[in-house]
Amino acid sequence: MSADGGSGGGAAHGEPTPQIVSLPGGGNAPALGMGSWQLAEGRHPIEQEKEALQTGLSLGMTLIDTAEMYGSGASEEMVGTVIAGQREKVFLVSKVLPTNATRAEDIRSACAGSLKRLKTDFLDLYLLHWRGGVRQLDVVVDAFESLKEEGKIRRWGVSNFGVADMEELFGIDGGGGCATNQVDYSLTTRGIEADLIPWSVREGVPIMAYSPLGTGSGHILDNPVLAEVADRHGVTPAAVAIAWTMRNGETISIPESGTLEHIREDAAALGLKLSEEDLADLDRAFPA
Ligand SMILES: NC(=O)c1ccc[n+]([C@@H]2O[C@H](COP(=O)([O-])OP(=O)(O)OC[C@H]3O[C@@H](n4cnc5c(N)ncnc54)[C@H](OP(=O)(O)O)[C@@H]3O)[C@@H](O)[C@H]2O)c1
Repeated sequence: MSADGGSGGGAAHGEPTPQIVSLPGGGNAPALGMGSWQLAEGRHPIEQEKEALQTGLSLGMTLIDTAEMYGSGASEEMVGTVIAGQREKVFLVSKVLPTNATRAEDIRSACAGSLKRLKTDFLDLYLLHWRGGVRQLDVVVDAFESLKEEGKIRRWGVSNFGVADMEELFGIDGGGGCATNQVDYSLTTRGIEADLIPWSVREGVPIMAYSPLGTGSGHILDNPVLAEVADRHGVTPAAVAIAWTMRNGETISIPESGTLEHIREDAAALGLKLSEEDLADLDRAFPA
C-alpha cells in the first residue's frame, strides 16, 4: 500500500485508532506521522535521529512533517536523506513561512527550495505555516493550486488557523480545496474542541494535531491517570496520549522523537483501542 493508499478512516469509541484518515477531494493520509521541528539541531546525535525516523517509517508512521523554518532548512535536508530511495513509502508534508507567502513568486521559490532540500520532485501536502502577515489568502490559494497543477504538490492546506481564518479561506474561490489544518492539540490543549473541531468536522477538513504529547503545556506524561490507562493496555503514557488525539478517526497526529525507544512507544498508538472507560478517565484528568 502506498503512503496514501487504502480505504477511508473514521473510528467510533472503543474501536482501534485507524491507520489512515480520509482527505477532502479523495485519497488518504497516514493517521500517525512524525514531526521534525527540533531534529537536526543537536538535541540528539543526528545518526540516532535518522534511525528513529527510519524506525518510525517501518512501524507505520509513514507521514513526515517538516517545514522550511525548521533549523532554517536543516530539518528538510535531514528528512531528504532519510526518505532517499523510499520516497513512495512516505507522505511528505512541508510548510511555507508567512513571510514567503504574500506574493505568488515567493511561494513558488519557497516550494522549490523545500523540494531541493528534500531531494524530491513533489510534496504530498504543502501548508501555510501560520497566517502571520498574510492578508490575501487568494494569492496563497492560487499559488498552491498552480503548484498542484504542475505536480509539485499533491494537496495544500494551512496551519494554526482558527475558525475565523478558516471561514475567510472557505469564502474565497478555491478555498474549499484545503486538505488539512495543522494545529496544537493534546490532552492539555483542548481549546479547539469548543469551536475549530466542530467546524472542521462539519466542513470535512481533517485536523493534524501537532505537539500531541503536550510539549510546552505541562508534564502530561507524568500524569497518574494517563499512566493507569496506559497500564491497562500494556503501553506507555505517550502511546495513550497520541492515540487519544486520533480517537475520532478524523485527526492525524504527528509526535516528534529523535529517540528510538520513544519512537517505538509512540508507534504503539496505532491500533490502540481506547475504551469508553479510558476516555471518561482521561476526560476527568484533563478536562476540556
Ligand atoms: N505547525 C506548527 O506551528 C507546529 C508547531 C509545533 C510543532 N509542529 C510539528 O509537530 C511536531 C510535534 O510537536 P512537538 O515537537 O512540539 O511536540 P511533541 O511531539 O508533543 O513532543 C516532542 C517531545 O516529546 C518527546 N517524546 C517523544 N516521544 C516520547 C515518549 N514516548 N516518551 C517521552 N518523551 C517523548 C521528544 O523527545 P525525544 O526526542 O527525546 O523523544 C520531544 O522532546 C513537530 O516536530 C513539528 O513537526 C508544528
